[in-house]
Amino acid sequence: MRALLTDHSTASGLRLGETADPIPEPHQALVRVSATSLNFGEVKHAIANSQDGVVLGWDAAGVVERAAADGSGPAAGTPVITLDADGAWAESRAVDTAMLGVVPAGADLGAISTIPVAGASALRALRRIGPLLGKRVLVTGATGGVGRYAVQLARLGGAHVLASTGDPAGHGDGLRELGAHEVIKHPEQAAGLVDGVVDNVGGAQLVAAFGKLAPHGTLVAVGHGTGEGESFPFGALFGDCGRHDRSLVTFYLLDGADLVPDLTWLAARVAAGDLDPGISWRGGWDRADEAVGALLEGRLHGKAVLDIS
Ligand SMILES: NC(=O)c1ccc[n+]([C@@H]2O[C@H](COP(=O)([O-])OP(=O)(O)OC[C@H]3O[C@@H](n4cnc5c(N)ncnc54)[C@H](OP(=O)(O)O)[C@@H]3O)[C@@H](O)[C@H]2O)c1
Repeated sequence: MRALLTDHSTASGLRLGETADPIPEPHQALVRVSATSLNFGEVKHAIANSQDGVVLGWDAAGVVERAAADGSGPAAGTPVITLDADGAWAESRAVDTAMLGVVPAGADLGAISTIPVAGASALRALRRIGPLLGKRVLVTGATGGVGRYAVQLARLGGAHVLASTGDPAGHGDGLRELGAHEVIKHPEQAAGLVDGVVDNVGGAQLVAAFGKLAPHGTLVAVGHGTGEGESFPFGALFGDCGRHDRSLVTFYLLDGADLVPDLTWLAARVAAGDLDPGISWRGGWDRADEAVGALLEGRLHGKAVLDIS
C-alpha cells in the first residue's frame, strides 16, 4: 500500500512511498482510509522521535474493509472514525475496535477525520471539569484543534464560555460564531473567576488561568505547546481566603476508557452540522509538506485535513 513514511531527509520529515499492508489482529478491523487530520503533537514530536520508514498518524476516517475476526466492531462497508498511536497516514489501517466509532452514512470523512484527538480531548477535558450548565469555562489556545471543539462543546453543555486567543482581533468573530461569549487575549484578562479551564497552551497562560479559578474549580492541563515551564507565584497554591479546593489536573486522552461511544457521538454531531470541524487547510496527501509547515509555524488556527486517494 501507499503511505506517508517518516523520512528525516525531507523538510517535513515525511514522504509518500510504498510499505507492507497492515495485518490485523483478531480484535482489529481493517479500514480503508479516506482522510486523516494532523495534530500538533504527532507532527512536532512523533516524527522527530521515529526511525525512517515507519507509518505514523493518529486520526483517520474511512470505511471498514474487513471486520474484526473476533466479531467485535462494525461490519465491512461501515464508515468509521478511528484513533490509534500510529498507522493513520496510509491507505489501509488495522485498528482496535475499541478505538473506532461509527459514522453516519454520507458524512464528509474529511470533516470526520478532525475529531479523534481534537474532539475527543475537548470532550473528555470538559467532562473532567464536571457538569457545565451555568458554569463559567475558560478555553485557552481557543483557535487550535482542541480549543475550537472545546469552545463549541462547552457552549453546548450550557457553560458561559471565555475563549483566550493570541489574536482576538483576527479570530474573535469566528470564536463568537462557535459559541464563545467572551474573547480575550490572555487568561489574566478574564473578568471575574471561572469554574473550569481547558488549557491547551501551558506556561504563563496556565499559571494565569489557575489564578482565575473559583473555589472548587478545575483546570485541565491538556497542552504545553509553548514549551515554557510553569512557575507559580508565592501564594498561588494557598487554600485560604475563600479560594479553597481548586484542582489542577493533568490529562491524557488515551487513558483507559472505551472511546467508541465518544467517537460515535462526536461523529454524529459533526455530520449533523451541530459541531464545526474547523478545517483551515485541506488538500491531497501529496501536499503533506505544506500542511505540516503551516501547523508547525502556527499558521493553521484549525485542523489540516489530508485526503488520501
Ligand atoms: N494530553 C493529551 O492527551 C493531549 C491531547 C490533545 C492535544 N494535546 C496537546 O494540546 C495542545 C493543543 O493541541 P491542538 O491540536 O489544539 O494544537 P494546535 O491546533 O496547534 O493549537 C494550539 C493553539 O495554542 C495556541 N498557542 C499559543 N501559543 C502557542 C505556541 N507557542 N505554540 C503552539 N500553540 C500556541 C494557539 O492558539 P491561539 O492563537 O488561539 O492562542 C494555537 O492555535 C498541543 O500542545 C497538543 O500536543 C494533548
